[in-house]
Amino acid sequence: MGRRKPIQLAWGVRREGRSLWTRNAVKGVSVRDERRKKDSRIEWRYWDPQKSKVAACLLKTKLNPSEIIPKSGSTCLYLGASSGTTVSHIHDHVCGSGNHHNGQIVSVEISPRMMRDLSKLSESRPGLIPVLGDARDPMVISPYLRNKVDWFHQDISVADQTKSFLRISDFFLKDGGIGMLSLKAASERWVEGGDDSRFELAKKLIESNSEVTLIDNVDISHYEGQHRVFIIRK
Ligand SMILES: C[S@@+](CC[C@H](N)C(=O)[O-])C[C@H]1O[C@@H](n2cnc3c(N)ncnc32)[C@H](O)[C@@H]1O
Repeated sequence: MGRRKPIQLAWGVRREGRSLWTRNAVKGVSVRDERRKKDSRIEWRYWDPQKSKVAACLLKTKLNPSEIIPKSGSTCLYLGASSGTTVSHIHDHVCGSGNHHNGQIVSVEISPRMMRDLSKLSESRPGLIPVLGDARDPMVISPYLRNKVDWFHQDISVADQTKSFLRISDFFLKDGGIGMLSLKAASERWVEGGDDSRFELAKKLIESNSEVTLIDNVDISHYEGQHRVFIIRK
């Protein structure tokens, strides 16, 4: 595969220089026209950090990225799934082809327009469960989860999202589980000051919650302007 030797970060996630690839669960099919390539009988799909904050975060975190990628077969929650670009890469690794890992990714999205694409995607990806509704409401989510989650990501660009993230973590995250909050400074306009003070407030809120530990605070503005990803462990 190219000139650089790939580093296997997890069963279905590879790093090759500055690029990430996931092991395509639906061979021969791209989700958003991304590149695909074969390495013997395995097909890999390019995971674009410009289009996925999780990918950007894996490239920028000071942690070992393998520690913050959910395990294959785990239970995951994805809040603000949009049409499923990032969800599809998480699915490649957590569920695999035909969901032979028996993973679950409950993916919540509020926009009916995006939900149409997400539902279509889920038809070829068993284990991906699309849910139309407000990701801030635990009652929307709980009927679909088989147990508490090992990993979740929130990317919903609304005001007060740090509080909502902590509430979801209280309700649904397993002890030892990982949560990722993608935060855009502009969506926290109600906080006075510049981007830094908005991020500082989010950091303080997380640090004041005794149930979780902030393990990294990742600046991904190189890929996605004004964005940070806060990573917690419960
Ligand atoms: C930046 S996009 C997410 C992109 C996606 N995470 C990805 O990487 O492929 C934010 C999404 O959150 C959705 N959203 C906003 N508020 C929401 C809410 N309260 N509940 C669920 N989804 C919401 C929007 O409709 C939008 O599709």
